[in-house]
Amino acid sequence: MGFYSEDIVGEIRSRADIVEIISEYVSLKKQGENFVGLCPFHSEKTPSFNVSPEKQLFYCFGCGAGGNVFTFLMKKENLNFSETIRLLADRYQIKLPAGKYDREISRDFQQRRELLRLNKLAAQFYHNVLIKTREGRRGYEYLIKRGIKTDTIERFQLGYALPAWDGLIKYFGSQGVDIKDLQKVGLVIPRKDNRGYYDRFRDRIMFPIEDVTKNIIGFGGRIVGAGEPKYLNSPETPVFSKGENLYALSMIKKDPEIDTIVVEGYMDCITLQQSGFTQTVATLGTALTQKQARLLKKYTGGVVLAYDADSAGRTATLRGMEVLAKEGLNVKILNLPVGKDPDEFIRKKGRDAFEELLAEAMGLVDYKLNLAKKGLDINNPEGKLRFIRKAVQVLTEIESDVEREIYIQKTATELNIPEQVLKEEIKKIKFPNNGFKYKKSQTRDNNKEFSKISPITGAYKAERMIIKLLIEDEAIREKVIKELAPSMFLNERTGKIAGVLFKMMQGGEPVTADSIFNLLDEDASSELSAILMTDKEFEDDDLVDPLVKKIKENYLKHAIKQVREQIKKAEAVGEREETIDLLNTYQKLKSQMNELKANLTSEKGGV
Ligand code: GTP
Ligand code: MN
Repeated sequence: MGFYSEDIVGEIRSRADIVEIISEYVSLKKQGENFVGLCPFHSEKTPSFNVSPEKQLFYCFGCGAGGNVFTFLMKKENLNFSETIRLLADRYQIKLPAGKYDREISRDFQQRRELLRLNKLAAQFYHNVLIKTREGRRGYEYLIKRGIKTDTIERFQLGYALPAWDGLIKYFGSQGVDIKDLQKVGLVIPRKDNRGYYDRFRDRIMFPIEDVTKNIIGFGGRIVGAGEPKYLNSPETPVFSKGENLYALSMIKKDPEIDTIVVEGYMDCITLQQSGFTQTVATLGTALTQKQARLLKKYTGGVVLAYDADSAGRTATLRGMEVLAKEGLNVKILNLPVGKDPDEFIRKKGRDAFEELLAEAMGLVDYKLNLAKKGLDINNPEGKLRFIRKAVQVLTEIESDVEREIYIQKTATELNIPEQVLKEEIKKIKFPNNGFKYKKSQTRDNNKEFSKISPITGAYKAERMIIKLLIEDEAIREKVIKELAPSMFLNERTGKIAGVLFKMMQGGEPVTADSIFNLLDEDASSELSAILMTDKEFEDDDLVDPLVKKIKENYLKHAIKQVREQIKKAEAVGEREETIDLLNTYQKLKSQMNELKANLTSEKGGV
């Protein structure tokens, strides 16, 4: 296993759930016993990437990539085995034996723990200032004026940073904290002349930001008085990354059946939650990232975007929708009146009006079609034509045939034109050269994907089955060791697997799929995953004998053929001695073959 002991690898293996790890890269859907998604190792439009929680393996029917959790990370993150072990050990907080790297990891880990502790203390400090001190009344009154209730302040642990330059520094000064750590976590900033530090957040309402495990990883701060900027966030720190977290995500329910509302502002999020829309999160002042979408996917099946309706908001909405749809999330858009954010809307119109907006939220296609219509009068021919041009673009981009049909119908009805007109226009965009070029490249792609999986027949099939049996059924190992050798596996990849497997069995090592995976190259590990995940189950160990024979027979057949060719060559060049040697080998192989055949017939006769 190289650098790390079987124990350590085993422990990491038992903690690192393959579905959980792969979900961070691929959005997976449950399908029968497995999870499926779009393969991260080749480009595809229909999911053929399978993950088995039971077997802790992945396999792609499209490109044949496969393996266990280690193989996946090695391939995806381009790491070697030791690096993968370190990555997972760090993630699951498993102590590795001391070594240079391990010390670095544990230092990082200690550091992160300390930074999180400081954030938590700071959040408590800001919160206490807000609710318990006279100086804090300024912040408290600001929140009450904005309609925030006391229990909401508690629920979100809101706080107030005093206008002073050293409020937080003074507080921590009495606690023996390393000021360098406060700087690292972004709570204080060194003065220009390098003489001491000052508080980053001053005269601001403080919004503690939690990760999904409820660590406070950073803060957002809104200015109370006049001042710039209106909002200030913690900088990127070892524990905080804006693009990888969402405000209030730790507070919502994990339920694929409930839609999650995504807003832009902290205050929008808090007001919505206070009004009963508890399934609401906010981005952290940046455009939605793929990582955030992936995170959301773990919590919800659908998202309603409630961004400002101004043009910046529209761009953000469209981009956000693409990012979310890419993760397989169902996306809808809330149609807010221009110039109002959700917080203002609710305070002016009430929660019921917001509920109505939610009910009317539009899907991506409707939203795009609506945008295309903006400012055009479709009752006059000129406007109608311009709308058709834009609409056709939108319709062409719809991937699902069924969905496209539905919207073609809808648009045609709305415009009072025949569907065929739209279909012709779509075709022109889709197949610019009469469709010829497009179709040709499609076929080629399909063939390429298909040809990667060779037909599994005959001896190759037997090699696969016996490998599967050897891994899954300890009882047959002894017998098979006596009968077979890795060299008898003629397929290159099963040969590699057998090489590792036989060595383990002969050395009396515990044989597990994982320990084999960890010694295989990429091709062989994909092969093993295919064997364990796709070949059918065998329970009847009576099958072992015919499988062994099949493999042997195939091996002997090939070996005999090869030796015969070598004999011919040797004779041709007059290599007498070598010819005799080869003839001996030939005889041995022949008699082995005869023996095998006799056995086969005698067994057949015995039935
Ligand atoms: P209120 O004015 O308090 O209602 O805030 P808002 O949420 O309505 O503000 P806005 O729509 O202007 O901003 C939405 C979000 O963008 C905020 O919650 C912040 O996360 C972010 N944001 C706004 N202004 C700034 C800024 O000046 N700097 C940074 N870094 N982020 C900002
Ligand atoms: Mn606002």
